[in-house]
Formats: sequence, C-alpha cells, structure tokens
Amino acid sequence: MRDRFGRKIDYMRISITDRCNLRCRYCMPEGIEQAPMKELLTYEEIVRVCRGAVRAGICKLKITGGEPLVRPGCPQLVKELKSITGIKQVTMTTNGILLKKFLPELLKNGLDAVNISLDTMDRDTYRQITGKDGLLQAADGIREAIESGIRVKVNVVLQKGINEAEWKGLAELTRRNPLDVRFIEMMPIGDGKGYETIYNEDVFAKLKALEPGLCEDISKHGNGPSVYYRIPGAKGSIGFISAMHGKFCGNCNRIRLTSTGRLKPCLCFGDSLDVRKVLRGTEQENVDELLYQAVREAISMKPAHHKFEVSGDITECKKMVQIGG
Ligand code: 5AD
Ligand code: SF4
Repeated sequence: MRDRFGRKIDYMRISITDRCNLRCRYCMPEGIEQAPMKELLTYEEIVRVCRGAVRAGICKLKITGGEPLVRPGCPQLVKELKSITGIKQVTMTTNGILLKKFLPELLKNGLDAVNISLDTMDRDTYRQITGKDGLLQAADGIREAIESGIRVKVNVVLQKGINEAEWKGLAELTRRNPLDVRFIEMMPIGDGKGYETIYNEDVFAKLKALEPGLCEDISKHGNGPSVYYRIPGAKGSIGFISAMHGKFCGNCNRIRLTSTGRLKPCLCFGDSLDVRKVLRGTEQENVDELLYQAVREAISMKPAHHKFEVSGDITECKKMVQIGG
C-alpha cells in the first residue's frame, strides 16, 4: 500500500531476537537488558503478522536481530515465510559468525540473499569493535555464501579512529568477489549517538580519487536506499547508505517489526504499534483482521523523513540491537 506521501511500502524488516553472539559497541553495548523470552513473538506469531502484512501490500521480508541465527529454528522460519502466498523474497542480515553452519539449510529453505556485517578485516580491530575474536568465522561465512551463489552484501559502518582507514581494503573486496560492499553511515540511534559520523561523501571522494573510472551502477541491487558504484572490471559493486546527509527517506519502502512485537513506522521515532497485544489479547475471532489493520496503520503513520540531524527530535530510545537496523 502507499503511505501518506505516496511511497509504496512493500518491505518489512523482522527482528526475531534481541540477543546476539557479538557485542558491537555501537549496537549492543555490554550490560544491555534483554527482553524475557516470553515477550518475544513466537515464530507462529511472526508468520501470522506477516500474513496480515501481505494483505497490506508487503511482499519482501528481511530477517534481522540482534543476530537472527542465534535463535533456534531460524532456518525453519525462512521456509515458513517463503511459503506465504504473496511473499516474493525473504532475505537476512547476519554477522556471519554462524552462517557457515546454517547456510545449507537456509539455502534449502529458499533464502534469497544475505547481508553480512563486517566492519574490518583486521583481527584485533574486529575484536575491539565486536568484543569477540570472530573475524575468521565471519570471513568463512562470507566465503561460503559467495561460493554457494546466493546474493551477498557486506555492511560496513566506519568509526573515527578505529576502522576509518579500512574503507579502501573493504571496497577492494568487490574487485575479485561477486559481492556488494556497502558503507552505512553511523546513525544516532542507541549508542550510535556517541559516535562522530564518517560521511559517505568523504569516503566516496577518496574512492573516486583512487579510481577515477568509478561508474554509477544503476542496476537493481535490493530493497534498500543504497547508491551503487563499480570499479571498472570489478565483480561487485560499492554501495553508499547515506543515512545522515543524503536523505534517502523519499524512497523509503519499509516498516519494521521488533522482536517483542512492535510495528515501527520509522527508525528515528519511538512511535510503534503493539501487535503482541493483538496476538495475545482476548478477542480471538478477529485477530487476523486486527493485524492487517495494524500494518495499515503503521504504514499510514510513516513520517515524511527522519530527523537524525536534530538530536532532540530523535524519540527512539531503543538500542539498535532491539530494533534490528
Ligand atoms: N548506525 C548505522 N548502522 C548501524 N548498525 C547497527 N547500529 C548502527 C548505527 N547506529 C548496522 C550494523 C549492521 C546493520 C544491521 O546495522 O552494523 O550491519
Ligand atoms: Fe550483533 Fe549486529 Fe549488533 Fe554487532 S551490529 S552487536 S553483530 S546485532
């Protein structure tokens, strides 16, 4: 369905857990409180919300977390979501640590593409950013995914003084590998607030100076707000998600479902609709109708754009790990 601003909303990000096997400081700082298990939507409940969402025009789903693969049965959920009539695409965002283990089952169950978060190719820096010595596992996950032929994107968030120089090595991964590397500007959500954003236009300028032949790649790469470029002769593309400067909200196509059952119209604002209450409420007869209405309402509540640049206007106080990015 279209929202108040004429945007077609056909994509829903579903966070299935607020747990993670890493502790990226900007996303899931140590000591953060986790929701009790009984507050997380069950897979049956998630599928039910998705059926309502399909009626409201959603046809593409992304499974996120926390880290989705830490929740038991995640590959089975892929299968169930894929079997919903009207769902055209189910993809996942993961840190890659458990990807090698689950990839065969995910592929068998029809996963269409995978986004893997990787901010660095240096083992010590990886430990510094994520709190775990997991680079080799994540890299294994990426390698296996590429070899399997599934579409792969690597998400990179650059941080001043930590991994900012790595834009070059990460961008160059696209030369020989059929994957997209995307630079996501740090957003002031959760602990991202404490970081100075490295602007994509600066990264782009450095890349262009190094690779004057860099060309915009206008082919369709997925559902997101990335703008893509390609180094001549490279197998993959380099994407820029410029959340802060380049306002991408005009093309927004999405709503979010949090692991505790909140439908979120926009990443920037705290407003949400409680579908868990609908699912577990006493009025059992018309739950499906109410879920459909809730998705419609979430879509119609979408604001024209975020206000990340005005810190006082950001009303979302959840951490990114509780939203799913
Ligand atoms: N700003 C931008 N990206 C973020 N991510 C997590 N927190 C932030 C933030 N504050 C990214 C992760 C992951 C994706 C799901 O979101 O690095 O790749
Ligand atoms: Fe986990 Fe991803 Fe958040 Fe890192 S960014 S803590 S891998 S959910």
